[in-house]
Amino acid sequence: MRKRIIVTGGNRGIGKEICRQLVDLGHDVVLTARSVEKGEDAAIEVGAKFRELDVSNEENIREFVHKYKDEIGELDVLINNAAIMVSDGKDVLDIDLDVVEKTVRTNVYGPWHLIQQLSPLLEKSDDGRVINISSGMGAIDDLSGNHPSYRISKTALNALTIMAHDRIGASVKINSMCPGWVRTDMGGDGASRPVEKGAETAVWLATADEIPNGKFLRDKQVISW
Ligand SMILES: NC(=O)c1ccc[n+]([C@@H]2O[C@H](COP(=O)([O-])OP(=O)(O)OC[C@H]3O[C@@H](n4cnc5c(N)ncnc54)[C@H](OP(=O)(O)O)[C@@H]3O)[C@@H](O)[C@H]2O)c1
Repeated sequence: MRKRIIVTGGNRGIGKEICRQLVDLGHDVVLTARSVEKGEDAAIEVGAKFRELDVSNEENIREFVHKYKDEIGELDVLINNAAIMVSDGKDVLDIDLDVVEKTVRTNVYGPWHLIQQLSPLLEKSDDGRVINISSGMGAIDDLSGNHPSYRISKTALNALTIMAHDRIGASVKINSMCPGWVRTDMGGDGASRPVEKGAETAVWLATADEIPNGKFLRDKQVISW
């Protein structure tokens, strides 16, 4: 089945690779990005449609959803991929809480607004899905005091997955996933995985016939929250 899919932060890194693989599988992908120029270039490169979307800006999210409903009107899969990680070397005891606020606005409120505003469309799909790209750095059992803004944003994103799973229509499956440590601007050159591998589980969660629901996954396997 040809699916209609939205990917956030699609202009580079794992998001762009997710778009590329989904287009190659024959799906209708809307690649979104906050930069029109970079987003359009990436969309042309992978063969997706482009729409502007800054996930840290509530007004911009509303405009995007309004236009999407008007112009396309149907949605099967939402992939919340866009995120920031501010590497300022601060730990939990000295981080500037403004950095935490900014990170949470992008990494948690962005996905949260999109889930709230797009769930009516996803619930109309026979096989709606939400994929929240999280990180093992947010897993409760693995928390430590470094990278506090990023970690807490991903812990919160995982909590959002659990809470939304409790309330979203039964036809919609929602999961969190960790792509592993991936060679992107965020992961750095020393990371162990290429983007192709980083995108693999997201593409599987978007397209496989049988997938888990309300879980946290890495490499297509359920892992601990
Ligand atoms: N790489 C890893 O090792 C790793 C590990 C675990 C989890 N992850 C997760 O995987 C996902 C993708 O990471 P990545 O490695 O591909 O990161 P990346 O290379 O830094 O790319 C991040 C993407 O998010 C976009 N973005 C940031 N803020 C945005 C906003 N306000 N609105 C719209 N787009 C925004 C960026 O757009 P701009 O170009 O405009 O900044 C970029 O397209 C993230 O959720 C990340 O937390 C990555």
